[in-house]
Amino acid sequence: MRSNGCGELRSQHIASNVQLCGWVDRSRDHGGVIFIDLRDSSGTVQITVDPDQGAELFNIAEHLRNETVLQISGRVRPRPDEAINNKLGTGEIEVLAESLNVLNPVTGTLPFTVSIHDEEPVKEELRLRHRYLDLRRERMRRNLHLRHATIKTARRFLEDEGFIEVETPVLTRSTPEGARDYLVPSRVCGGEWFALPQSPQLFKQLLMVGGLERYYQVARCFRDEDLRADRQPEFTQLDMEMSFMSEDEILDLNERLIAAIWKATKGIDLPLPFPRMTWHEAMNRYGTDRPDTRYGMELNDVSDIVKDVGFKVFSGAVAAGGSVKCIVVSGGNESVSNVRIKPGGDVFSEAQTAGAGGLAFIRVRESDEIDSIGAIKDNLSDEQKTELLTRTGAQAGDLILFGAGDTSTVNKALDRVRQYLARELGLIRSDQDNSDQDNNAWNFLWIVDFPMFEFNAEANRLEALHHPFCAPNKDDLGDDAAAWMERLPQARAQAYDLVLNGLELGGGSLRIHNSELQRQVLQTIGLALEEAQEQFGFLIDALDMGAPPHGGLAFGMDRIVMLLAGEDSIRDTIAFPKTQQARCLMTQAPANVSERQLDDLHVASTWSDPE
Ligand code: AMO
Repeated sequence: MRSNGCGELRSQHIASNVQLCGWVDRSRDHGGVIFIDLRDSSGTVQITVDPDQGAELFNIAEHLRNETVLQISGRVRPRPDEAINNKLGTGEIEVLAESLNVLNPVTGTLPFTVSIHDEEPVKEELRLRHRYLDLRRERMRRNLHLRHATIKTARRFLEDEGFIEVETPVLTRSTPEGARDYLVPSRVCGGEWFALPQSPQLFKQLLMVGGLERYYQVARCFRDEDLRADRQPEFTQLDMEMSFMSEDEILDLNERLIAAIWKATKGIDLPLPFPRMTWHEAMNRYGTDRPDTRYGMELNDVSDIVKDVGFKVFSGAVAAGGSVKCIVVSGGNESVSNVRIKPGGDVFSEAQTAGAGGLAFIRVRESDEIDSIGAIKDNLSDEQKTELLTRTGAQAGDLILFGAGDTSTVNKALDRVRQYLARELGLIRSDQDNSDQDNNAWNFLWIVDFPMFEFNAEANRLEALHHPFCAPNKDDLGDDAAAWMERLPQARAQAYDLVLNGLELGGGSLRIHNSELQRQVLQTIGLALEEAQEQFGFLIDALDMGAPPHGGLAFGMDRIVMLLAGEDSIRDTIAFPKTQQARCLMTQAPANVSERQLDDLHVASTWSDPE
């Protein structure tokens, strides 16, 4: 149907006859000559329709609506000098039309403009409802091509390293990754349910027991959890697992993989190795296990300095086993007013949303004198003031913001305030600053040495921080199996996350390959032996039949592409994403099904509309 792609044509094609297919991006009548921008997936080219070519041809051209699907044949010729468009690959030439064939007219009303010339923002709801039109626009076209290039590079890299891609089941049992499962009722086995995989975790471990040694998969995962800009109910992991590799070897391989992706898609040489930070250090210095290290404003623990002061918010917090921490906003005396950090202010609200009761503060005045609203200043001795300024490095003109209370809330609040102020005060170096080889805006960081468990106060039990198949650190556990149960709760896991500019790109761990240890870990998170056997017996049995030491990692593919594309939401990296309400606006899924279908599945709905 066509001899060339529209976007391929260059000066070297001048004088050739070509046949092209595509969409009418726009057409303009310029005093008797009609110009049509014809667009296909390779780009656009200008088609010129001259009345000299015949009335019939001209008549078709005059009545073309945008997005009509068109086939044209014609001759490539140079554009006049004054009409050369250097912004377009095809900007030096045009095609003089000799015939036009409408392959499909547009009869409906287009809900928004599709043209590559029009990057006008369109409401997301409209874009998602008519995603097939949105996909024709430059932004989504670029993002999907970038996604493809990313996956292609990953496949090549891993296959060159000896990995093979293996598909794992989608109809399976629940895999504990911490979210709610999507369930599928079984028609054949009445009353029983499949769960869609939250990740291929157990299957990939069993592939290692199966002797495959190096597995990867571009794997669709399903999690029924609260959605955010970086979370979708179904998303894609670049998932891998390998046998006989140490933690260092796994991290090294994955750094090289990430570097290959950045090189292929952005032309950037990332400096390797990536820095590493322990989970403890990250929590102390940033209050989060995924710190954005593109800017400072680190947290300082000042509990020891203020533990005995008369200001009860501080001393009380320390006495109750919590902490007092602070961040220094450089030049904050000028840039952040009192109104903003007092109740009702925007900075205060950030702290409050993260659970903090308040946001105490001090302003460091010119003479190194400190100033605050009442209580803090009056209750600090000169010695404590000096110590506070030395510890935090605060200078004249700076604002110090404090969080006091239980350590986890303090961390959450100051992390949130730190991120908010960094955005507000323009401290973040963005991808846009990173036009050439300046890598500073790509702050990769491995977080290592996670705790095995965290306490879930609601359920009153320990929970696995990653998942219950992570291997504990050998030094923390020791060789005496009888002491494991007691030591496990404090042990560090051999787990690692890769963080980029404050976003978790991926995570993984070395796995438990000893069945007794696996049982004890499952017991530690509150599973009785029979329950553990019932849910994970297939894994535990396999571990007893020659399971090799193994470990792995999974990257969030959608998130990687989001960062590469400079987008704020993974919805813009997925062809057909769901909304925040986990709905597909185009197909209107989820939707009702017939009573008959439910009967077949032995399911009855208890839903009643609250309205
Ligand atoms: P984890 O649960 O950390 O690990 O997931 C790995 C990565 O997947 C991405 N991710 C998501 N992306 C979009 N939407 C979501 N709802 C979503 N949830 C997670 C994140 C995350 O870092 N089985 C383990 C991996 C392993 O141990 O090998 C796992 O799934 O980028």
